[in-house]
Amino acid sequence: MNVMTRYQLRRATLDDLSTVITWPESPTELRYLFPHAQWPMEPLKLLEHLANHEDGFVVCDHDRTLGYASLYNAKNQGRAWIGHLIVNPRARRMGVARYLVTALTTIAQQRHRATEMATICFANNQSAYDFYASLGFSNEGWETRSDHRGEAVKVFRLTKQI
Ligand SMILES: CC(C)(COP(=O)(O)OP(=O)(O)OC[C@H]1O[C@@H](n2cnc3c(N)ncnc32)[C@H](O)[C@@H]1OP(=O)(O)O)[C@@H](O)C(=O)NCCC(=O)NCCS
Repeated sequence: MNVMTRYQLRRATLDDLSTVITWPESPTELRYLFPHAQWPMEPLKLLEHLANHEDGFVVCDHDRTLGYASLYNAKNQGRAWIGHLIVNPRARRMGVARYLVTALTTIAQQRHRATEMATICFANNQSAYDFYASLGFSNEGWETRSDHRGEAVKVFRLTKQI
């Protein structure tokens, strides 16, 4: 069975966001999505943060929500950004993120005439780096972001022409 046909994309609801914030399995994973987050998580703060991103999308399989990402600054000089990408830990390595990023790329290209996709990836997040590399993203350079303690952490800008 073609894995691409198993999933559907739709806009995230508040119920979806309540589910998504339960997915990070460790402080490290939580901060890949929310660099300033405290551990244990503060659900209301995380919900508020995600709800403020207008273009949040989820991937579903029947009635289960399996993956989440936001699409932002899609009209910013042709470069559309993907943020907050996360897949339900029980649905990883099943093509969910590949489906999601491919679908968001189509939206950015067709709806916003974007010519490039981009994301920020923590330098120590090898799984995410490998994931984006598998989709053809390359490393444009690095910068620093401040973490929950206010300390600088290295992140890569990963980009792909579309
Ligand atoms: C990174 C993440 C989004 C990948 O989601 P996923 O749905 O499991 O990824 P996919 O199944 O679509 O993987 C597609 C390809 O990416 C690569 N890949 C994905 N996860 C990988 C991993 N852990 N290690 C190495 N390569 C990986 C593989 O090439 C994979 O193809 P294959 O399974 O046929 O070998 C998921 O592990 C996750 O939610 N991590 C925690 C949150 C996070 O780090 N988000 C990224 C912020 S930048």
